[in-house]
Amino acid sequence: MLLSGLVPQSEILNILFKLPAESRCRLRRGSVALLGILLCAPAVTCAEPDTGHAGMVEAAAEFSGRLRTALQSAMRAGGPVAAIEVCHQQAPAIATAVGAERGLLVRRTGVRLRNPGNVADPMDQQLMEDFARQMAEGADPATLAVLSSTPDGRLRYTRAIPVEAVCLACHGDAIAPDLSDAIKAHYPDDRATGFQPGQLRGLLVVETLNP
Ligand code: HEC
Repeated sequence: MLLSGLVPQSEILNILFKLPAESRCRLRRGSVALLGILLCAPAVTCAEPDTGHAGMVEAAAEFSGRLRTALQSAMRAGGPVAAIEVCHQQAPAIATAVGAERGLLVRRTGVRLRNPGNVADPMDQQLMEDFARQMAEGADPATLAVLSSTPDGRLRYTRAIPVEAVCLACHGDAIAPDLSDAIKAHYPDDRATGFQPGQLRGLLVVETLNP
């Protein structure tokens, strides 16, 4: 405690509380000596989200949790045809919202695409090949996640999205005709059918905005 030797702790806390939250966050990151004092002060909180590995894992879990909830309640309320509408609007909206809340970019891509906007870049493509091979060899998809760096120096967390039984209504090989029409209406070039449970469906990608 470098500072506390020179100035009484109550004085230091007074000064710190007058600082805007942002500077307090910077101080907390920047100084181990101050960290001890700040941790003792219950009113000091740092509002900046974690954009490191742990924050990315959380963002991925939050995105898939929110989307799954939206999908399940739409399926219960109006069946798969109504759920197409929800997926069409909610999947990109939830990704944007979770990303904005956490200062990260959240997106999905697929082995074969329904929405051509979810296109895979070369790193995604390579990982999909690796993950699909590991799954074919018996790997548990829950363990398939990597932390990497993009060519422009941003941190990227990528996790496998496996096909489950509930996905088959919309991604399997026996799509009901009314559902198929609803899918074609939004996605005339849909290629995301014919999947089997246990196969790789795609990737959930979380990345930092800046290097
Ligand atoms: C009610 C129909 C429906 C169900 C059920 C469904 N999806 Fe989808 N899925 C869609 C639609 C619609 C899109 C396109 C969303 C968009 O525009 O981004 C999509 C897109 C995706 C994508 C993004 C890649 C692409 O092809 O555009 C992935 C990955 C995906 N789904 C995985 C799953 C998984 C895994 C499940 C099961 C847990 C599932 N889906 C269940 C309708 C469905």
